[in-house]
Amino acid sequence: MDIKALLSRMTLEEKVGQLVQSNAGQFIRNDLEITGPDGETVPAEELNRVVGSVLTFEDAAQAKALQDQHMAADRNRIPLLLMLDVIHGLRTTYPIPLAMGCSFDDALTAECAEIARREASACGVHVTFNPMVDTARDARWGRILETYSEEPLLNCRMGAAIVRTTQGQNLADPENVACCVKHYAAYGAPEGGRDYNTVELSERLLREAYLPAYKACLDAGARLIMPSFNALNGIPSVANPWLMNRVLRGEWGFDGVVISDYNAVMELVPHGVAESLRDAVRKAMEAGCDIDMVSNAYYRHLADLVREGTVPEAVLDAAVLRVLQLKNDLGLFENPYHGASEEREREVYLCPAHREVARRAAEESAVLLKNEGILPLSRELKRIALIGPFAEETRLNGFWSRPGAERYTVTLPEGIRALLPEAELILERGCGAELGDLDRSGLDRAAAAAARADAVILTLGEPENDSGEGRSRAELTLPGVQQELAERVIAANPRTAVVLFNGRPLVLTALEKIAPALLEMWYPGTEAGNALARLLWGEANPCGKLSAGLPRAVGQLPMPYNRMNTGRPKPGPDDQAVPFTSCYLDTPNLPLYSFGYGLSYTRFVYESLTLDRDRMSKEDTLRVTVTLRNDGDRAGKEVVQLYLRDLAASVVRPVQQLIDYQKVMLEPGERKEVHFEVTEKQLRFWNFDCEYVSEPGTFELSCGWADHLLETKRFTLD
Ligand code: GLC
Repeated sequence: MDIKALLSRMTLEEKVGQLVQSNAGQFIRNDLEITGPDGETVPAEELNRVVGSVLTFEDAAQAKALQDQHMAADRNRIPLLLMLDVIHGLRTTYPIPLAMGCSFDDALTAECAEIARREASACGVHVTFNPMVDTARDARWGRILETYSEEPLLNCRMGAAIVRTTQGQNLADPENVACCVKHYAAYGAPEGGRDYNTVELSERLLREAYLPAYKACLDAGARLIMPSFNALNGIPSVANPWLMNRVLRGEWGFDGVVISDYNAVMELVPHGVAESLRDAVRKAMEAGCDIDMVSNAYYRHLADLVREGTVPEAVLDAAVLRVLQLKNDLGLFENPYHGASEEREREVYLCPAHREVARRAAEESAVLLKNEGILPLSRELKRIALIGPFAEETRLNGFWSRPGAERYTVTLPEGIRALLPEAELILERGCGAELGDLDRSGLDRAAAAAARADAVILTLGEPENDSGEGRSRAELTLPGVQQELAERVIAANPRTAVVLFNGRPLVLTALEKIAPALLEMWYPGTEAGNALARLLWGEANPCGKLSAGLPRAVGQLPMPYNRMNTGRPKPGPDDQAVPFTSCYLDTPNLPLYSFGYGLSYTRFVYESLTLDRDRMSKEDTLRVTVTLRNDGDRAGKEVVQLYLRDLAASVVRPVQQLIDYQKVMLEPGERKEVHFEVTEKQLRFWNFDCEYVSEPGTFELSCGWADHLLETKRFTLD
């Protein structure tokens, strides 16, 4: 399609329409008068005739109906863009992104993105609002579940892998889907950990820790980006000229589509940076926001602003051309349905191959936090008590799973019975219908059930809807009577394994004191029961490592693992306060469990870390070899992590910074050398003048995991 010729034929209202996005629901109910944010209404039929895209639809049949309805009404027959949040699976749900980060497995993450791409394209999705790669260091923020890690490196690698897999080589291939990376920028650093709250960051820290992952996804080819709801250093992202023009379009040269978040253009008014909706439209357009997601602000005011010359028509035309280019690259002018196919939906949704990937992902993202000889359970144990609020739960998919995902979840009893048909299961919920209520009436029955059993699986956590968008919490302990339930059950039967289902790092300090075994499952998705049964009985060996540290107390937050040393680091053991040093009087400094930590059913011993030189120039490559061995009696995977410390620089540098990782399998008794290459680029950082540089000096390299660095070696950069 010659999109410039097409543009020349379009009226002003039709051009504006390409920058308007409606909800599919509103669109279908054509008779609906859509009330704008200040009570004004717009004629739905007129809006639907010119609208350029819709979001949140159900399936291929609806996708085709939406397209047919629009194309019949659109004079220019410009196809709609159909967009949807496919964050961790469409019908086959795999683990939440924070759990995927614990797999430390970019290839597995790509396999998961592949099954999501196949199902989303069959559903008729043209654009997915994925990946979300906001760095998050504060578990009070409910959307931490949606990102891959507190460490930008994981978000960079996993986000880029998702973009490459989802978009494929050619977007016109009906089985490929365009990616919209989000939320630009630093949405994960709100004051107080409270969603949508303001963000204040130095440019240096913003560039160091928050911008890299968006850039990595754009470098991988993401065709859209979504500015975040929050104000960043005083200006909401969607109208932030520094963020959008200076960095995104200027420094990074991004020429794809910018789409606002939900209503975010209208929200410039309550933010207090726009006196009216007209003013909000002007500011968003000046900042280069192409599509207005559902606020109708562009629909109602943009044409007038262009007619009066406030917004140059050239600015409008440039935005419209970016949207038309995306539609052209997706091949929509030739094939408006793209990949929508009821037949393919039947073929790929929940197919065995997709379930296998989802199950493996659930196994490899689980983190074994503690195990005092309880796990794996023996097949000889016949009577198993399955206790707690998640014992028969199906809502194990997470806030951003598609509606109805719970219909397809394999529950824990189903998983156990599939693995151990002869097991006798005793089921007891042990607490009230609502996880947060203080109903203690089930505690006695739960303790009695535990006492009767050969072993107990105690399932605890937070409700699926207590994390995700708009779900920030100021306290992070287990809701309701769960701690008391754990005390009663473990007292009744010490052979108890506690399994956790939650979307954010929780404060488990009290639970950790009494639990003989702790397995963090996060929200594992469709194959939850099968994966968990295999992990509990040792068919799968846990290998997950924490992608975000678990705090001892909410008062420690935000608590980045890559912390600075300060001028008064606390000496001695972490559990003793030392006055006039950087510490708390009532709580240790370190997390309960640190970033990069996770146990296995076998034992890995790190024997050495060696460098091929102790000096390097900027042109050199430093070769690092980590030697480890499997000291146990079963095979297992280990994530070998490489940490860097810059001992002195022009700005303070972290005491530990993950710069690389590799996941390796070791057979019992096997010794393995894992090789890393370190270049000058990995030594760079943003200095005081916001230049991305490396500086000569002394560095340390270590293996192990955060706060537990083993085998440290020094080298100098000339
Ligand atoms: C939501 C979220 C965003 C999502 C969008 C469309 O408010 O902030 O992540 O993609 O709206 O559902």
